[in-house]
Amino acid sequence: MRLLPTFAAQAAALTAAAFFCAPQPAAAQEEVPFITTPDAVTLAMLQLAGVSAADRLIDLGSGDGRIVITAARRFGARGLGVEIVPHLVEQSRANARKAGVADRAEFRVQDLFETDLKPYSVITMYLLPAVNLQLRGALLKLAPGTRIVSHDWDMGDWAPDQSLTLDVPDKTIGREKKSTLHLWRVPADVAGRWCGPAGELQLAQRFQQFSATLRRPGLAAPLLVFDGRVHSTDLRSTAAELSLQGAELRVTRTAPDAAALERASFSREACAR
Ligand SMILES: C[S@@+](CC[C@H](N)C(=O)[O-])C[C@H]1O[C@@H](n2cnc3c(N)ncnc32)[C@H](O)[C@@H]1O
Repeated sequence: MRLLPTFAAQAAALTAAAFFCAPQPAAAQEEVPFITTPDAVTLAMLQLAGVSAADRLIDLGSGDGRIVITAARRFGARGLGVEIVPHLVEQSRANARKAGVADRAEFRVQDLFETDLKPYSVITMYLLPAVNLQLRGALLKLAPGTRIVSHDWDMGDWAPDQSLTLDVPDKTIGREKKSTLHLWRVPADVAGRWCGPAGELQLAQRFQQFSATLRRPGLAAPLLVFDGRVHSTDLRSTAAELSLQGAELRVTRTAPDAAALERASFSREACAR
Protein backbone atom coordinates (compact mmCIF):
# COMPACT_ATOMS: atom_id res chain seq x y z
CA MET A 1 0.00 0.00 0.00
CA ARG A 2 1.26 3.47 -0.91
CA LEU A 3 2.04 5.85 1.91
CA LEU A 4 1.14 9.49 1.59
CA PRO A 5 3.75 11.77 3.14
CA THR A 6 1.23 14.62 3.30
CA PHE A 7 -1.45 12.60 5.03
CA ALA A 8 -0.60 13.54 8.60
CA ALA A 9 -0.74 17.26 7.83
CA GLN A 10 -3.98 16.91 5.90
CA ALA A 11 -5.72 14.75 8.44
CA ALA A 12 -4.81 17.22 11.18
CA ALA A 13 -6.02 20.13 9.10
CA LEU A 14 -9.27 18.37 8.32
CA THR A 15 -10.87 17.32 11.57
CA ALA A 16 -8.33 15.51 13.69
CA ALA A 17 -9.66 12.87 16.04
CA ALA A 18 -13.34 13.28 15.15
CA PHE A 19 -12.45 11.87 11.73
CA PHE A 20 -12.06 8.36 13.06
CA CYS A 21 -15.47 6.86 13.63
CA ALA A 22 -14.40 3.23 14.06
CA PRO A 23 -11.22 1.53 15.22
CA GLN A 24 -9.11 0.67 12.16
CA PRO A 25 -5.80 -1.09 11.55
CA ALA A 26 -3.01 1.49 11.62
CA ALA A 27 -1.94 0.79 8.03
CA ALA A 28 -5.27 1.85 6.49
CA GLN A 29 -5.49 4.96 8.61
CA GLU A 30 -2.18 6.08 7.10
CA GLU A 31 -4.06 6.74 3.88
CA VAL A 32 -7.73 7.50 4.42
CA PRO A 33 -9.71 6.79 7.57
CA PHE A 34 -13.11 5.07 7.52
CA ILE A 35 -15.87 7.65 7.57
CA THR A 36 -19.25 6.83 6.08
CA THR A 37 -20.97 8.93 3.44
CA PRO A 38 -24.41 9.75 4.92
CA ASP A 39 -27.33 8.07 3.09
CA ALA A 40 -28.74 11.26 1.56
CA VAL A 41 -25.29 12.13 0.21
CA THR A 42 -24.84 8.61 -1.19
CA LEU A 43 -28.09 9.00 -3.10
CA ALA A 44 -27.13 12.47 -4.33
CA MET A 45 -23.74 11.16 -5.57
CA LEU A 46 -25.43 8.43 -7.59
CA GLN A 47 -28.02 10.84 -8.98
CA LEU A 48 -25.30 13.35 -9.90
CA ALA A 49 -23.52 10.61 -11.86
CA GLY A 50 -26.81 9.61 -13.51
CA VAL A 51 -26.29 5.98 -12.50
CA SER A 52 -28.54 3.44 -14.25
CA ALA A 53 -28.81 -0.32 -14.67
CA ALA A 54 -26.46 -0.01 -17.65
CA ASP A 55 -23.59 1.13 -15.44
CA ARG A 56 -20.71 -0.67 -13.81
CA LEU A 57 -19.68 1.30 -10.78
CA ILE A 58 -16.63 1.08 -8.55
CA ASP A 59 -16.27 2.69 -5.13
CA LEU A 60 -12.63 3.29 -4.24
CA GLY A 61 -12.26 2.63 -0.52
CA SER A 62 -15.77 1.23 -0.10
CA GLY A 63 -16.01 1.22 3.72
CA ASP A 64 -19.19 -0.62 4.74
CA GLY A 65 -20.31 -0.92 1.09
CA ARG A 66 -23.15 1.57 1.15
CA ILE A 67 -22.42 3.30 -2.18
CA VAL A 68 -22.17 0.07 -4.21
CA ILE A 69 -25.18 -1.42 -2.42
CA THR A 70 -27.33 1.68 -2.99
CA ALA A 71 -26.29 1.78 -6.67
CA ALA A 72 -27.46 -1.83 -7.03
CA ARG A 73 -30.61 -1.52 -4.94
CA ARG A 74 -31.92 1.85 -6.14
CA PHE A 75 -30.57 1.97 -9.71
CA GLY A 76 -29.96 -1.65 -10.70
CA ALA A 77 -26.26 -1.03 -11.40
CA ARG A 78 -23.57 -3.67 -10.99
CA GLY A 79 -20.75 -2.60 -8.76
CA LEU A 80 -17.49 -3.42 -7.05
CA GLY A 81 -16.19 -1.99 -3.80
CA VAL A 82 -12.46 -2.20 -3.12
CA GLU A 83 -11.48 -1.76 0.49
CA ILE A 84 -8.19 -2.30 2.29
CA VAL A 85 -9.68 -3.25 5.67
CA PRO A 86 -10.82 -6.91 5.65
CA HIS A 87 -13.51 -6.65 8.31
CA LEU A 88 -15.19 -3.81 6.36
CA VAL A 89 -15.30 -6.06 3.31
CA GLU A 90 -16.94 -8.80 5.39
CA GLN A 91 -19.44 -6.25 6.69
CA SER A 92 -20.13 -5.00 3.13
CA ARG A 93 -20.83 -8.53 1.88
CA ALA A 94 -23.24 -9.10 4.77
CA ASN A 95 -24.91 -5.74 4.06
CA ALA A 96 -25.27 -6.65 0.36
CA ARG A 97 -26.88 -9.99 1.28
CA LYS A 98 -29.25 -8.22 3.66
CA ALA A 99 -30.20 -5.73 0.93
CA GLY A 100 -30.79 -8.61 -1.53
CA VAL A 101 -28.17 -7.35 -4.02
CA ALA A 102 -25.27 -9.75 -3.39
CA ASP A 103 -25.45 -10.82 -7.05
CA ARG A 104 -24.78 -7.26 -8.25
CA ALA A 105 -22.61 -5.82 -5.47
CA GLU A 106 -19.17 -7.37 -5.12
CA PHE A 107 -16.54 -6.48 -2.52
CA ARG A 108 -12.84 -7.25 -2.49
CA VAL A 109 -10.03 -6.66 -0.04
CA GLN A 110 -7.85 -4.72 -2.44
CA ASP A 111 -5.65 -1.64 -2.58
CA LEU A 112 -7.43 0.98 -4.65
CA PHE A 113 -4.10 1.95 -6.24
CA GLU A 114 -3.68 -1.60 -7.54
CA THR A 115 -7.14 -1.73 -9.07
CA ASP A 116 -7.87 -1.71 -12.81
CA LEU A 117 -10.39 1.10 -13.27
CA LYS A 118 -10.98 0.55 -17.00
CA PRO A 119 -14.06 -1.71 -16.79
CA TYR A 120 -16.12 0.91 -14.94
CA SER A 121 -18.43 3.62 -16.28
CA VAL A 122 -18.84 5.32 -12.89
CA ILE A 123 -16.20 5.80 -10.21
CA THR A 124 -17.12 7.05 -6.76
CA MET A 125 -14.76 8.11 -4.02
CA TYR A 126 -14.67 9.65 -0.58
CA LEU A 127 -10.96 9.87 -0.01
CA LEU A 128 -8.64 12.83 0.62
CA PRO A 129 -7.39 15.64 -1.63
CA ALA A 130 -3.89 14.19 -2.00
CA VAL A 131 -5.27 10.74 -2.81
CA ASN A 132 -7.58 12.22 -5.44
CA LEU A 133 -4.56 13.93 -6.99
CA GLN A 134 -2.58 10.69 -6.96
CA LEU A 135 -5.42 9.01 -8.84
CA ARG A 136 -5.95 11.85 -11.32
CA GLY A 137 -3.49 10.67 -13.98
CA ALA A 138 -5.09 7.20 -14.10
CA LEU A 139 -8.60 8.67 -14.14
CA LEU A 140 -7.79 10.93 -17.09
CA LYS A 141 -6.73 7.86 -19.11
CA LEU A 142 -10.13 6.19 -18.75
CA ALA A 143 -12.65 5.97 -21.57
CA PRO A 144 -14.10 9.35 -22.53
CA GLY A 145 -17.39 9.92 -20.76
CA THR A 146 -16.50 7.89 -17.65
CA ARG A 147 -18.17 9.70 -14.74
CA ILE A 148 -16.27 10.31 -11.53
CA VAL A 149 -17.99 11.57 -8.40
CA SER A 150 -16.05 12.64 -5.35
CA HIS A 151 -17.52 13.41 -1.95
CA ASP A 152 -16.03 16.62 -0.53
CA TRP A 153 -12.65 16.69 -2.29
CA ASP A 154 -11.76 18.06 -5.70
CA MET A 155 -8.91 17.26 -8.07
CA GLY A 156 -6.84 20.43 -8.00
CA ASP A 157 -6.88 22.32 -11.29
CA TRP A 158 -8.95 19.65 -13.06
CA ALA A 159 -12.19 21.58 -12.55
CA PRO A 160 -15.33 19.48 -12.17
CA ASP A 161 -18.12 19.61 -14.76
CA GLN A 162 -20.61 20.07 -11.95
CA SER A 163 -20.54 20.60 -8.18
CA LEU A 164 -23.23 20.85 -5.58
CA THR A 165 -23.34 21.44 -1.85
CA LEU A 166 -25.87 19.76 0.41
CA ASP A 167 -26.91 20.42 3.98
CA VAL A 168 -26.16 17.23 5.89
CA PRO A 169 -27.32 17.51 9.51
CA ASP A 170 -26.22 13.93 10.29
CA LYS A 171 -22.65 14.38 8.99
CA THR A 172 -20.30 12.91 11.59
CA ILE A 173 -17.32 15.16 10.80
CA GLY A 174 -16.63 18.84 10.36
CA ARG A 175 -18.15 21.89 11.98
CA GLU A 176 -20.22 22.82 8.92
CA LYS A 177 -22.83 20.12 8.43
CA LYS A 178 -22.45 20.23 4.65
CA SER A 179 -21.14 17.97 1.91
CA THR A 180 -19.87 19.06 -1.47
CA LEU A 181 -20.08 16.68 -4.42
CA HIS A 182 -18.06 17.01 -7.61
CA LEU A 183 -18.69 15.34 -10.95
CA TRP A 184 -16.16 14.97 -13.76
CA ARG A 185 -16.72 13.37 -17.14
CA VAL A 186 -13.44 12.13 -18.58
CA PRO A 187 -12.73 14.19 -21.69
CA ALA A 188 -11.33 12.51 -24.80
CA ASP A 189 -7.66 13.28 -25.38
CA VAL A 190 -7.79 15.34 -28.57
CA ALA A 191 -4.62 17.42 -28.24
CA GLY A 192 -2.31 17.64 -31.23
CA ARG A 193 -2.44 17.88 -35.02
CA TRP A 194 -5.38 16.67 -37.05
CA CYS A 195 -5.37 16.80 -40.87
CA GLY A 196 -7.93 16.50 -43.65
CA PRO A 197 -9.04 18.09 -46.91
CA ALA A 198 -10.18 21.22 -44.99
CA GLY A 199 -6.63 21.82 -43.71
CA GLU A 200 -4.69 21.22 -40.54
CA LEU A 201 -6.41 21.58 -37.19
CA GLN A 202 -4.09 22.16 -34.26
CA LEU A 203 -5.77 21.44 -30.94
CA ALA A 204 -4.45 22.53 -27.56
CA GLN A 205 -6.20 20.96 -24.60
CA ARG A 206 -6.24 21.42 -20.85
CA PHE A 207 -8.68 18.93 -19.31
CA GLN A 208 -12.15 19.88 -20.72
CA GLN A 209 -10.95 23.13 -22.35
CA PHE A 210 -9.64 23.23 -25.90
CA SER A 211 -8.51 25.83 -28.38
CA ALA A 212 -8.31 25.11 -32.08
CA THR A 213 -6.51 26.69 -35.00
CA LEU A 214 -7.37 25.74 -38.59
CA ARG A 215 -4.70 26.41 -41.22
CA ARG A 216 -4.42 25.70 -44.95
CA PRO A 217 -1.10 25.02 -46.65
CA GLY A 218 0.31 28.13 -48.33
CA LEU A 219 -1.69 30.55 -46.17
CA ALA A 220 0.25 32.33 -43.45
CA ALA A 221 -2.80 33.42 -41.44
CA PRO A 222 -5.05 30.86 -39.78
CA LEU A 223 -8.46 30.39 -41.40
CA LEU A 224 -10.18 30.01 -38.08
CA VAL A 225 -9.34 30.14 -34.37
CA PHE A 226 -11.92 28.99 -31.84
CA ASP A 227 -12.14 27.49 -28.41
CA GLY A 228 -14.62 25.51 -26.36
CA ARG A 229 -15.12 22.47 -24.17
CA VAL A 230 -14.55 18.78 -24.60
CA HIS A 231 -17.60 16.91 -23.41
CA SER A 232 -16.75 13.21 -23.49
CA THR A 233 -16.06 12.65 -27.24
CA ASP A 234 -17.70 15.91 -28.40
CA LEU A 235 -15.95 19.23 -28.88
CA ARG A 236 -18.42 22.06 -28.40
CA SER A 237 -17.87 25.71 -29.26
CA THR A 238 -19.89 28.56 -30.68
CA ALA A 239 -18.03 28.22 -34.01
CA ALA A 240 -18.54 24.50 -34.52
CA GLU A 241 -19.18 21.13 -32.97
CA LEU A 242 -16.92 18.20 -33.66
CA SER A 243 -17.27 14.60 -32.68
CA LEU A 244 -14.51 12.06 -32.18
CA GLN A 245 -15.66 8.94 -34.00
CA GLY A 246 -13.04 6.23 -33.82
CA ALA A 247 -9.85 7.77 -35.20
CA GLU A 248 -11.72 10.57 -36.98
CA LEU A 249 -12.69 13.99 -35.78
CA ARG A 250 -15.84 14.96 -37.67
CA VAL A 251 -17.45 18.38 -37.81
CA THR A 252 -21.14 17.95 -37.02
CA ARG A 253 -22.27 21.59 -36.91
CA THR A 254 -20.82 24.91 -38.07
CA ALA A 255 -21.80 28.52 -37.40
CA PRO A 256 -22.13 30.72 -40.53
CA ASP A 257 -18.73 32.34 -39.92
CA ALA A 258 -17.01 28.93 -39.67
CA ALA A 259 -17.85 27.74 -43.19
CA ALA A 260 -14.23 26.61 -43.67
CA LEU A 261 -15.05 23.70 -41.38
CA GLU A 262 -18.36 22.67 -42.94
CA ARG A 263 -18.69 18.86 -43.06
CA ALA A 264 -14.91 18.55 -42.58
CA SER A 265 -13.23 15.55 -41.06
CA PHE A 266 -9.72 15.12 -39.75
CA SER A 267 -7.49 12.34 -38.54
CA ARG A 268 -4.09 12.28 -36.88
CA GLU A 269 -2.96 9.67 -39.36
CA ALA A 270 -3.57 12.00 -42.34
CA CYS A 271 -0.90 14.37 -41.00
CA ALA A 272 1.75 11.67 -41.52
CA ARG A 273 0.93 11.26 -45.24
C1 LIG B 1 -13.72 7.98 3.99
S1 LIG B 1 -13.96 6.25 3.91
C2 LIG B 1 -15.25 6.12 2.69
C3 LIG B 1 -16.06 4.87 2.77
C4 LIG B 1 -17.18 4.77 1.72
N1 LIG B 1 -16.68 4.91 0.38
C5 LIG B 1 -18.26 5.79 1.97
O1 LIG B 1 -18.24 6.80 1.22
O2 LIG B 1 -19.07 5.61 2.87
C6 LIG B 1 -12.50 5.75 2.99
C7 LIG B 1 -12.25 4.26 2.98
O3 LIG B 1 -11.11 4.01 2.19
C8 LIG B 1 -10.42 2.89 2.74
N2 LIG B 1 -9.03 2.90 2.23
C9 LIG B 1 -8.00 3.67 2.64
N3 LIG B 1 -6.90 3.43 1.89
C10 LIG B 1 -7.25 2.49 0.98
C11 LIG B 1 -6.56 1.83 -0.07
N4 LIG B 1 -5.29 2.09 -0.33
N5 LIG B 1 -7.23 0.93 -0.81
C12 LIG B 1 -8.54 0.64 -0.54
N6 LIG B 1 -9.24 1.22 0.45
C13 LIG B 1 -8.61 2.14 1.20
C14 LIG B 1 -10.53 3.12 4.21
O4 LIG B 1 -10.31 1.94 4.96
C15 LIG B 1 -11.97 3.65 4.32
O5 LIG B 1 -12.89 2.62 4.57
